[in-house]
Amino acid sequence: MTTNGQLQRILTHVPTISRGEHQARLAARLVQLAAPRIGERVLDIATGTGFVAILTARLVGEGGRVVGVDFSAGMLDQATKAIEAGGVKNVEFIQADAETLDYAPGSFDLILCGNALPYMSDVPAALRLWHSLLRPGGRLAFNCWAEHSYATGHLLRVIAARHGIRVAVVGPETGSPERCRAVLAAAGFVRPAVVAESTAAFVTAGRLETFTEMAVKNKLYGITPSDINPLCDLRDEYIAAIQSPSVTDSINAEVGAYFVLGHKSSASPLDEHG
Ligand SMILES: C[S@@+](CC[C@H](N)C(=O)[O-])C[C@H]1O[C@@H](n2cnc3c(N)ncnc32)[C@H](O)[C@@H]1O
Repeated sequence: MTTNGQLQRILTHVPTISRGEHQARLAARLVQLAAPRIGERVLDIATGTGFVAILTARLVGEGGRVVGVDFSAGMLDQATKAIEAGGVKNVEFIQADAETLDYAPGSFDLILCGNALPYMSDVPAALRLWHSLLRPGGRLAFNCWAEHSYATGHLLRVIAARHGIRVAVVGPETGSPERCRAVLAAAGFVRPAVVAESTAAFVTAGRLETFTEMAVKNKLYGITPSDINPLCDLRDEYIAAIQSPSVTDSINAEVGAYFVLGHKSSASPLDEHG
């Protein structure tokens, strides 16, 4: 088990690269809960700048191995610079689509997916594929948000709807602990567990205030081109709402950050992709 002290020490060793602080916090907590063990083979799905992969590499030690996959060459470039700067030898970054990976069944002991599951075009199919890549007894861990979390722009969605603008729900398949458990079970995972934590522990007020700008740039919010300018016009209304004392109280009370774990049964035969 990784302790908080260990994690803090590991964090101080990770080279500083450009990444959002909230992503760093989420990634660190995800890795802590997944508790990689010495010698494990780990796949980090949608590795981005490699934050989850690099933390994990420290924990699996020299006898372990981490593969980080992402389809963005730019992200992998930053990740590669980070491992070079940090002298991390047991990580390999591969440019690939996480939904069509071609590893042999049972190749990994642990699969991690930090801040990225909603980007998959078919979440149930992706989870089935990743299940097939785990060895029997292997485990999967990802993080996601409550459907009505402030961290997924829920307040902007409500305000936009009043003006006839649709802002998509991010990650509907994993928007509640029940749905997280159900989607894991449907993909073949057993013993699903959801650790729900304070939203405010991971997301700053400053980030919540930038949701109007974020939503128009990020495909997850599904803003149609003709709605971009009308949504931008709602910025002041949204900022006033997110800064209001009653909303600040609700943000502080929200338990919307989910860390989700599932296991592949140790009795599972090595199944085929699909
Ligand atoms: C918000 S970032 C998360 C990065 C990292 N896991 C972290 O926690 O900091 C999402 C990443 O998912 C990647 N991504 C999205 N869909 C993908 C897919 N189908 N295959 C591989 N990478 C994907 C993007 O390129 C991006 O780097």
